[in-house]
This record gives sequence, C-alpha cells and structure tokens, in this order.
Amino acid sequence: MAEEPDTDEGTELEARLAEGETYEPPASFVEQANVSDPEIYEEFEENWPACWERAADMLSWNQAYDTVLEDDDAPFYRWFTGGELNASYNCLDRHVEDGAKNRAAIKWEGELGETRTYTYSDLLYEVEAFAASLRELGVEEDDVVTLYLPMIPELPIAMLACARIGAPHSVVFAGFSADALATRMNAADSEYLVTCDGYYRRGDPLNHKEKADKGLRGVDHDVETVVVDRLGDELNHFLGASAHDYEELVSEHEGESVEPVSRDAEDMLFLMYTSGTTGQPKGVKHTTGGYLSYAAWTSHAVLDVKPEDTYWCAADIGWITGHSYIVYGPLALGTTTVMYEGTPDYPEKDRLWDLVEKNDVDIFYTAPTAIRAFMKWGKQYPDQHDLSSLRLLGTVGEPINPRAWQWYYDHIGDGECPIVDTWWQTETGGMMITTLPGVGEMKPGSAGPPLPGIDARIVDASGDQVEAGNAGYLTVNNPWPGMLRTLYRNDERFLSEYWQEYSDEEADEWVYFPEDGAKIDEDGYITILGRVDDVINVSGHRLGTMEIESAIVGVEGVAEAAVVGGDHEIKGEAVYAYVILEDDADATDSMRDRIIEGVEDAIGPIARPEEVIVTPELPKTRSGKIMRRLLEDIASGNELGNTSTLRNPEVVEDIAAQVGND
Ligand code: PRX
Repeated sequence: MAEEPDTDEGTELEARLAEGETYEPPASFVEQANVSDPEIYEEFEENWPACWERAADMLSWNQAYDTVLEDDDAPFYRWFTGGELNASYNCLDRHVEDGAKNRAAIKWEGELGETRTYTYSDLLYEVEAFAASLRELGVEEDDVVTLYLPMIPELPIAMLACARIGAPHSVVFAGFSADALATRMNAADSEYLVTCDGYYRRGDPLNHKEKADKGLRGVDHDVETVVVDRLGDELNHFLGASAHDYEELVSEHEGESVEPVSRDAEDMLFLMYTSGTTGQPKGVKHTTGGYLSYAAWTSHAVLDVKPEDTYWCAADIGWITGHSYIVYGPLALGTTTVMYEGTPDYPEKDRLWDLVEKNDVDIFYTAPTAIRAFMKWGKQYPDQHDLSSLRLLGTVGEPINPRAWQWYYDHIGDGECPIVDTWWQTETGGMMITTLPGVGEMKPGSAGPPLPGIDARIVDASGDQVEAGNAGYLTVNNPWPGMLRTLYRNDERFLSEYWQEYSDEEADEWVYFPEDGAKIDEDGYITILGRVDDVINVSGHRLGTMEIESAIVGVEGVAEAAVVGGDHEIKGEAVYAYVILEDDADATDSMRDRIIEGVEDAIGPIARPEEVIVTPELPKTRSGKIMRRLLEDIASGNELGNTSTLRNPEVVEDIAAQVGND
C-alpha cells in the first residue's frame, strides 16, 4: 500500500523548502571526500585551460600529449593533442597491473535473481576474447560497431572490446524500436551489430532478436551480426543466415591477448544518437582522450568514487548516463560498478534497496523520475533494509522537485548523505553543473554552481547575463574536455544546433547553447527549468516531438499531428498527441491504438503517448503557427491564458474537454 501523505509534515516541509532551506555536507563526508578544498574553483579559473591536466592525469597515456587545448579551429576544439591512449587499457589492464586483478569490476544482478561478478582480470579476459572475435569478423580500426543490447554484462564487454581495437561503438538503447535501430545503423554506415536473443522484463522473456531482425531488414547494406544467448532455452536462439553465436565466437578466442590499439586523443571512442528538434537523431561524437578524462575526473570529483567503493548507477547503458557513469568513469577509476538488468519494482518495490543492502553500495546515482516513484510507493520499502552503507546520492536527467529531493535525502540517505543534482547532456559527455559534495552546501531543487573550469552562464535573448534571481537561457562560454566534437558526418548541423545562437563568429567567440532554460540565484546556484526547444523529457529520457509527430502522421488516416509534453507526477513530462484525422477516418479506439502502435514501432514504448486527443483543428495563431504553449498548458492542466489572438479560439474548449482539464 502506498504511504498516506502526512499533510502536516507535508505542509511544513513545503514551507521550509519555499524558504530555500540549505544543507551542509556532513563533516564525516567532507573528511574523506576526494575533493574538499573550496579553492579548487579559483585554481581552475586562474589556471585555465591548463587546469584540465588534472583530468588527463587520471589516465595512463602511451604517448604524453603536447597541448591541453587547441582552439585555432573553434568550435571544433581539440583536447590533449599529440597524446595517445587506449580506453580499454585504462579501464582494465592498468588496474590488473596495479594489483587489483581480483577486485570486482562489474557486479551484475539479473532480474530473476541470478548474479555474475567479473573481477578486473575476468573482465579483461572476456574483453580480449571478444575483441579477437570482432577482428575475426572483419572489424577494423574506425569501423562503427552497433550494440543493441539490454543490461547484460556482454554490453560493457562489447564496448570495451570495441575500444580495445579502436572501433567506435554506437549503442542503441534496447527499448528502441526496430526502425530506430535501422535509422542509426544507416546513418553511421555500421556494418556490424551485436545483439541478443532476448531479456527479462518483470519476469517475462522479451524477444529482442525478432526486433533486431526487423531492424536489419531496414538497413541498406550488409551486416555481420553477433547474437548473445541470454535466455537459454526460453526463446529459440535462432541465429539466421549471417549471424554468429557470441559464445561460440568467444570460446574460439579464449585466452588470446589482444594488444590495446594506441588511439590518438582525438580519435572517436563512440557515437551516441540523441533526439533533437528535427526528426533525424543527432550522432554525437565523443573522443578517446577528452571524453575519458572527463568521465574519470567527474566520477572522482563529483561522485567521490574510490577504488574500494561499490558504486551503483541505476541507469541504462543505452543512454549517455550509463556510458559515462556505469562503464567508463567508474572502470577508469578501478572501482566496482553494479549493473542491474531489471525494473525497480520486480519482484517487489524494495528491489533496489535489497540490492543496495546486499552489495553494500556506497554511492547511488539515479533519476528524479525513479525517486518520485519510490516516494509514491512509500518509505516502508527502503525502511525494510539497512542502507547505512550509502555515503553519497546523486540524480540526473531532469529537474528534481524539492519534495522529491527531501524524500531522497531523508529516506534513502537517512539525512547523512550529500546529494549531487547533476546537470549535463549527451553532448557534454559528463557532468557540468552540480555541487561538489565535499565542498558546497546543497539547495534542494537547484543543481548548484558550474563545476570548476566550466563557465556556465544564464543569459537573456541577446546574450547578456541576467541578474541574480532571474531566469534566462543557459550557455557555456568556454570549452571542456568531455564536449562533443561534432555531429557525425554533419559539421554544419553541429554548428547550427549548438553554436549559432550566442556566438560571435567575427570575434571568434564561441558560446555553446544547450537549449535549456535556467535561473540563477545570488550565490551563483543554477536551477534548470527545462528544454526551450521542441524536445521533451519523459522519465529523464530525451525525445524529439518532431520524431513522434512524423511517426503519427505516418499512420494511415492521420492528417496532422502536434506533440507536446504535459506535466506528469512520476515521469516529469508525458507525451500528449493532438491529432487531426483525414475526412474519412473516425476517432475510434482502434484508431488511437494504431497511432500508439505507430509511435512504438518508429521509436519505442518510451515515446508512447499518454493521451491521443483527436480534434478537428489545432489552435493556430493568425499567421498559422500552432500554439504549442497552449497545447502544453492544456496537457498540464494549467490555467489557460488569453486565447483571443487565435485564429480559431473555439477549438480550445473542445480540446480541453477531451483532456479532462476544462
Ligand atoms: O534538459 C536537460 C535535462 O536533460 C537534458 C539532456 O538530456 P540527455 O542528453 O538525454 O542526457 C540526460 C543525462 C545526462 C538536458 O538538456 N537534464 C539533465 N540533467 C538535469 C536536467 N534537467 C534538470 N536537472 C538536471 N540535473
């Protein structure tokens, strides 16, 4: 049963939060923190960009770099130029060589209760065997290998195997549809795919191979496919003509050693597709030297990761959070990273707390959407477990409301763990705005100041900084090592998406625009308000409204669609689809089902509309522009402002009545 909210406690809490109550990190945390000297901000500022050597020094380089930052071709910045390194060597071999070969690298928890632990030497052994297998299939340096795998150990193994031989990986989230897989493989000309037969969700096996096969039919070139057997006999592990069995391949190469390829710092480590304003996903390119340094540095400074820790980021590796903070950051630091295959409420709603207790997790990192769900389920679930191993908590992906922050602080951290609310993006590679947990006081709901070395500002439409207390647009006014280098094969879009808005090209002043709105207070703390483009954030997952709209208009009988985000208690935002049908189509349930199916087929269940509202017209301005803001207000149940400037104000009432918010 969900916990009854205690109204007295609730009201008092709201009042305290509204007053902007702040929290100091506990002394016991500060004493042991990787970073606890507030001077770090000045040190970085005074010594910029050389300060970033600290990040690069967290890695082992085969060839020392000559220059920290080269900006002659800005905004195509180059970091640690002349340096050479290998990411898999940094995540594996060096720890084995340093005497940590028997330390657990990955502790995997399967949904059905099975576990697998890979020590650093086990992981190296597997990675080498799979790296040799990829080579046997013909993978060469710089070939893009697509990984369409759920949360099973073979995913990080495949990532590190690719990194070892210098083949960039492109991980496609397993929840994405067949079409989404095909689009990404075509865009990257990727000729290799690693996938699996299936995986479990709430105890039931899902057929993943069928989806991968369907996706492959949409790929416009030949593909070599490797299939991991996750389900044993549960599903027929059917390979198809050109597919290889992972186990078979690996067993042929067991015990082989594969030299880590020395990569230039600026060589691509991976590609990650993310949603943008247009229908076509953006292929964000990350490099070996800058990205890995940044992932390692932020894991050290913000997540306070130490080699002897057990660290758990409960995200999916299919998103950037999992790349940087399940795989690359923690493994580069030689810690133990926990990986959980399943959902947080299976078999019971205490599953995550059970895993924290069982594994003595020190650091836990998740998304506000999960925290809001935990809060709704009630504190009795964490209360059943001993969570005293926890030292630090983190959140990422969307704004956290102060109440959820407070609940996390009280009921998971027992008032003793600092919380880092970390703002960043697929493009930034790692965290950008957050408190340093051993330094700064926390303000629930506000991410905090920019990290040392990051010049984030809040500006108005003309690019001038706003006064404290005001809202505006977030910008980043200097480069950082983890930044994307370009959009894959699309430098023009890279320039227009991120650098056009606030840069002064003539003056060679480049300003990165992340497309978020934000507010700044007198202490320089930044509160993120959300996206200012047509991207919505559902459960911390970024979705382009245009992508969803084009899926909907692809459904037979649909004439026009407008998709917006509406407030949602758990998900933060949910997808609302306003649809105009063709004259001969009827607004039946089956029509709505087909629309939902269309979205699931084109993108995946995460983009599933919460509501499909069929309307004869969309509210438009006199110049014919769809009033999206109004559609958002209707979806969120907000008070509707003046609609008299509309060409067709009469449709508003009708639409609002359907959403049930009139
Ligand atoms: O709007 C911001 C929101 O998530 C967007 C980036 O999404 P994505 O590239 O998928 O990466 C998510 C994980 C890093 C941002 O533009 N966002 C991310 N973190 C926060 C956030 N909004 C508020 N607070 C955060 N801590």
